[in-house]
Amino acid sequence: MAPNQPAAVPKVPIAGVKNLIAVGSGKGGVGKTTVAVNLAVALASLGYKVGLMDADVYGPNVPLMMGINQTPMAHGERIQPLGKHGVKLMSMGFLNPGDKPLVWRGPMLHSVIQQFLRGVDWGELDFLVIDLPPGTGDVQLSLIQTAPITGAIVVTTPSDVSLEDARKAVHMFHQVKVPILGMVENMSYLSCPHCHERIDVFSHGGGRRTAEAMQVHFLAELPLDPQVRIGGDTGNPIALQKGEAEPFLQLARSAVARAEELSKEQGPKIEISD
Ligand SMILES: Nc1ncnc2c1ncn2[C@@H]1O[C@H](COP(=O)(O)OP(=O)(O)OP(=O)(O)O)[C@@H](O)[C@H]1O
Ligand SMILES: [Mg+2]
Repeated sequence: MAPNQPAAVPKVPIAGVKNLIAVGSGKGGVGKTTVAVNLAVALASLGYKVGLMDADVYGPNVPLMMGINQTPMAHGERIQPLGKHGVKLMSMGFLNPGDKPLVWRGPMLHSVIQQFLRGVDWGELDFLVIDLPPGTGDVQLSLIQTAPITGAIVVTTPSDVSLEDARKAVHMFHQVKVPILGMVENMSYLSCPHCHERIDVFSHGGGRRTAEAMQVHFLAELPLDPQVRIGGDTGNPIALQKGEAEPFLQLARSAVARAEELSKEQGPKIEISD
């Protein structure tokens, strides 16, 4: 086998789940969870059946950003996902609440990711959005090698340091043969609330240029907006807020269109219901 070509492991579909969308980035703190949460909520508000799996086992932020922290129940062997804002949810934050860190090695991570994928009663879903931890490590590999991911979204800011790491993430997905749904440029620009002048805090346009150079789709530019942060910190995702949701609804529509394209390329397994 050629170097860097991982063995073709059969990827068993998750019963009832039509599309898996993984949200990743090379760099931490660029807005993966923000994008994953708002994408999930926006897809749900467009009428799709949606789940959100928090695969950031060490730093689970989905409970805070979705405004829910309860303990999931189990029916028999199956964990029942929690539900909020029309989205089914599973996160390590529900099982290990508070500030106590998990100190685990790779095999434990692998087993929890498998539990979240296959031991949770996701039911019928059009989309299961997966929020990845930063980087290209154990969790990413565990998921990628076992789950039939429809496509990955790579989140970046327009700054060169973020783009450098985003390129690594794109290469990683290519290397393990996970299709790229597209790139998202988050914190793309700031509209000054006083004079409405546009300020490119982290530069602008690098996401689109990088996507073109790497021949992957470009999905959306999302503004740097204090309301996005407030929505995250208060558990009221901005995609739910009238007048503010449009960039995220646009992202959701682009993601659906790309998922349909990729599903056609991947074969007859997936059908998206209206
Ligand atoms: N477009 C935005 N406008 C304003 N604040 C934002 C935006 N995107 C993200 N943030 C804020 O930036 C911080 C980091 O975002 P987030 O947690 O989504 O990043 P992440 O990539 O998931 O981080 P990690 O790598 O730690 O998982 C959060 O406080 C979030 O509210
Ligand atoms: Mg995160």
